[in-house]
Amino acid sequence: MSRVYNFSAGPAVLPEEVLREAQAEMLEYGNSGMSVMEMSHRSKDFEDILFTAEDDLRELMNIPGNYRVLFLQGGGCTQFAMIPMNLMRTKSADYIITGQWSKKAAQEARIFGSVSVIASSEDRNYAYVPDMSAVKVSPEADYVYMCQNETIHGTTIRQLPDTQGRPLVADVSSMFLSEPVDVSRYGVIWGGVQKNVGPAGVTIVIIRDDLITEDVMPFTPTMLKYKTHADSKSLYNTPPCYNIYICGLVFKWLKKLGGTEAIHEINKAKAGLLYDYLDGSKMFHGTVDKKDRSLMNVPFVTGDKALDAEFVAEAEKAGLRNIKGHRSVGGMRASLYNAMPLDGVKALVDFMAGFERRHA
Ligand SMILES: Cc1ncc(COP(=O)(O)O)c(C=O)c1O
Repeated sequence: MSRVYNFSAGPAVLPEEVLREAQAEMLEYGNSGMSVMEMSHRSKDFEDILFTAEDDLRELMNIPGNYRVLFLQGGGCTQFAMIPMNLMRTKSADYIITGQWSKKAAQEARIFGSVSVIASSEDRNYAYVPDMSAVKVSPEADYVYMCQNETIHGTTIRQLPDTQGRPLVADVSSMFLSEPVDVSRYGVIWGGVQKNVGPAGVTIVIIRDDLITEDVMPFTPTMLKYKTHADSKSLYNTPPCYNIYICGLVFKWLKKLGGTEAIHEINKAKAGLLYDYLDGSKMFHGTVDKKDRSLMNVPFVTGDKALDAEFVAEAEKAGLRNIKGHRSVGGMRASLYNAMPLDGVKALVDFMAGFERRHA
């Protein structure tokens, strides 16, 4: 076996300790006589897995009692529709567009009502975050939507907009559990787990009680109502049982590590190492304004497409995988999620320095 350093933007690296634990329990979970994959979702064993995962997540994120935690399916793209279907009471909402994922969310919301773009960084291909203190919400908006960490462009919204009492809805897929967060400042905070939390197939939605109602858009299917899943504690139908089990192991791993404060320090150290190198390099350049840089997704370029391609090919051979940037930004992107060890970032920076010397 030779595991590589996997810089994929998602699905992404998982803690090796968690994979080994899952391996050890693959044939028999506890004394159940079966694998978690084979269990009924109505069994006591699985209910324990699900409810323990929720309790651990509540502890990790310090989730207030008036918020519900839902383990859903359909990926992030289903949330792009569920949010307007459940929250657009007067058929209008405000969107902050800082990249492809918030743009897609806004496009989907337009199916259901009127969308006002109240801030956008499209003018510079989303290489920065617009000034949030200048954002003015529309009087009629049912909610304000943003993607707090844009996975493709590598930006993070650090200052939350003043929503004048309207619920703030945030997609935190690519920064889930990477740093402490004050859940009470959001109406809905949600993420697909396939970056920082577990295997693809689970979307975690944390939603304030008062936003869960029957007062949804007409024709909203049962499965797309938050109330359906809140009422049945995420067991309305068969959930992605095994994936939830892995998320639960990741929560335990993170708790043991010291929680979100501890991982935030580690994440700052990892990203700092790469950004410091980029800032001193004559060959490689970060593509995002310094103040808006993400700790999770770090896009960079050489400015020469052929050289970028050569770098990606050589890095792959050196065991630094999935470093190619998204086509809309080009160049390279290193995703440094919670489970990426510091040694992985050191290996990347060493490799970059060697490449720069060889091509000077
Ligand atoms: C920030 C963000 N939101 C939403 C999505 C879409 O998620 P899914 O592929 O699960 O629909 C992604 C996917 O990478 C993402 O990075």
